[in-house]
Amino acid sequence: MDPLQWAIDPWEKIVPIHIAWFLIWVAAIAGLLFVIVHAIFVRYFARPRQFEPDAAPVVPAQIPERVPRHSLTARAFHWIMAASMFTLLFTAFLPKVGFQFDWVTYHWIAGSVLTFSILFHIIHASFFMDFWSIWPDKIDLRDAGRRILRFMGNSAPPPDKFAKYPLENKLYHAAIMAAGLSAIVTGVFMMFRVRTIFFPRNPYLFSDMTWCMMYVLHGLAGVGLIALIMVHVYFGLRPEKRAITKSMIFGSMSRDFYLKEHDPQRWPVESPTSSPVSKEEAPEGLRDAG
Ligand code: HEM
Repeated sequence: MDPLQWAIDPWEKIVPIHIAWFLIWVAAIAGLLFVIVHAIFVRYFARPRQFEPDAAPVVPAQIPERVPRHSLTARAFHWIMAASMFTLLFTAFLPKVGFQFDWVTYHWIAGSVLTFSILFHIIHASFFMDFWSIWPDKIDLRDAGRRILRFMGNSAPPPDKFAKYPLENKLYHAAIMAAGLSAIVTGVFMMFRVRTIFFPRNPYLFSDMTWCMMYVLHGLAGVGLIALIMVHVYFGLRPEKRAITKSMIFGSMSRDFYLKEHDPQRWPVESPTSSPVSKEEAPEGLRDAG
């Protein structure tokens, strides 16, 4: 079973032109298997989570009842990105599995929305949010080691509570970033092969072989995104993650959930008001929202 489709170019050379479309099913089944195995593991085998007690005692009354987690801008970005991602997946893959329609125009329009929203997100996250909060830090790596040891029945101290994002979320972000950026960069170049409102069509921009590689990379990133998005939606729907999902709709999470899972030293509460509380005025553990 060849994962690529091949053709013969005008110079009689054999070149790869697309991925083989059975990879759509491989990705969908891989995503489904992950979901099933994870759900069984959590239901029947996982032990209740244990965290190291907070290093500094926390006074719950100092934490607001609703802890702000995602600003309106960050939420708007997330849902615009989600809508464009789903449109891209459906417009790309439905025709390949038998539902024929004129998909290319919808596809590049959704691709352009995704591209602009990601450009916006990069600027927003770099200059207006806590850029490093989504990258693994030393405590995450130490705690990953502790969690593996404890899982295998060895003795190790419990991990610390999480910062704003657990390690799993940070790793997921890195994976979706790699697949998403590959699809975007190749997709923007592939727009030169079709008629769009942005630039004149120019199919001679690259050599045939470069175009072939671009289509193959675009396809691989695309099927990778099928599995990644399935896993993302599954976690968003899991009962123990519901507080996080709701915070992506309403912007905040309950104090109880915050204190149960998050370490106020690693993720200080952000100020909920639109008139920001300066660091000097803010009580211990409170800082401005990004
Ligand atoms: C979730 C993300 C995406 C998925 C799953 C996806 C999937 C696909 C697939 C499977 C194809 C057919 C490739 C082939 O024939 O070998 C394709 C073509 C294409 N995609 Fe995407 N894509 C995504 C993102 C994007 C983005 C962000 C853009 C633009 C910025 C884009 C623009 C295009 C264009 C212009 C074509 C070529 C159409 C043609 O040559 O007929 N795609 N996409």
